[in-house]
Amino acid sequence: MLFLRRWIANPGKVGAVLPSSAALGRLVARNVARRPDQWVVELGAGTGTVTRALLGSGIPADRLVVVEIDPDLCAFLRRELPGARVVQGDATALRALLPEGAAGNVGTMVSGIPMLTLPPDLQRRMIDAWLDVMPPDGRLLQYTYSLLSPLPAGRLGLEGRRCGIVMRNLPPAWVWSYRRAG
Ligand SMILES: C[S@@+](CC[C@H](N)C(=O)[O-])C[C@H]1O[C@@H](n2cnc3c(N)ncnc32)[C@H](O)[C@@H]1O
Repeated sequence: MLFLRRWIANPGKVGAVLPSSAALGRLVARNVARRPDQWVVELGAGTGTVTRALLGSGIPADRLVVVEIDPDLCAFLRRELPGARVVQGDATALRALLPEGAAGNVGTMVSGIPMLTLPPDLQRRMIDAWLDVMPPDGRLLQYTYSLLSPLPAGRLGLEGRRCGIVMRNLPPAWVWSYRRAG
C-alpha cells in the first residue's frame, strides 16, 4: 500500500504501481559482480525487494549503499532493514551520497530508477554520475518492463546485454547488464 501511495503522489519518479517480485530481486542479485573490497550501490530501492535479495545473496550490509529519493520510502526501508545503509538523496548527485572509500570502488550499480521515461539530458547526467564512481570494469544492472534496452547504450558510451527475463513479476521484467563500451 505504501508503494501504491507513493506512486499516486509521484508517478513519474516511482514509475511502477507494484514493487518488484522476490524472483526479480534474485535474478538481479545473481548478476552482481564485486571484488571483496568493492561496494554495491542500489539506486531507487522503493520498499526494498531487491535490497533484501542483495543482502540475502551474501553481500555484506556494510558494503551495500541503498539510495532512495522518497523520504517516506526511506523511513520504511530503515524500519524494515535496520542493518542496511539507507541514504536519502538523488541518484544524479551520487558521489555526495556515498560513504568514504566507496567512490571509484563500486563494482556493481543496481538501478530500479525508471530510466526509459527520463528526458535524454537527465538520463545522460545520471549515467555520468554513476560512471564517475565506478571503476573501468564496473557493471550497471538495470531492470525494466521494456522488451528493448532501457538505455540508449551506444549514445551513452555503454555496451549492454540481457541477463534474463522474470515471468514471476507483474508485469514480467528483464534485467540488463551494461559496462563501458570497449
Ligand atoms: C520502479 S520503482 C523501483 C522500486 C524497487 N527497487 C522495486 O524494484 O520494487 C523506482 C524507485 O526509484 C526511486 N527514484 C526515482 N528517481 C530517483 C532518483 N533520482 N534518485 C533516487 N531514487 C529515485 C523512486 O522513488 C522509486 O522508489
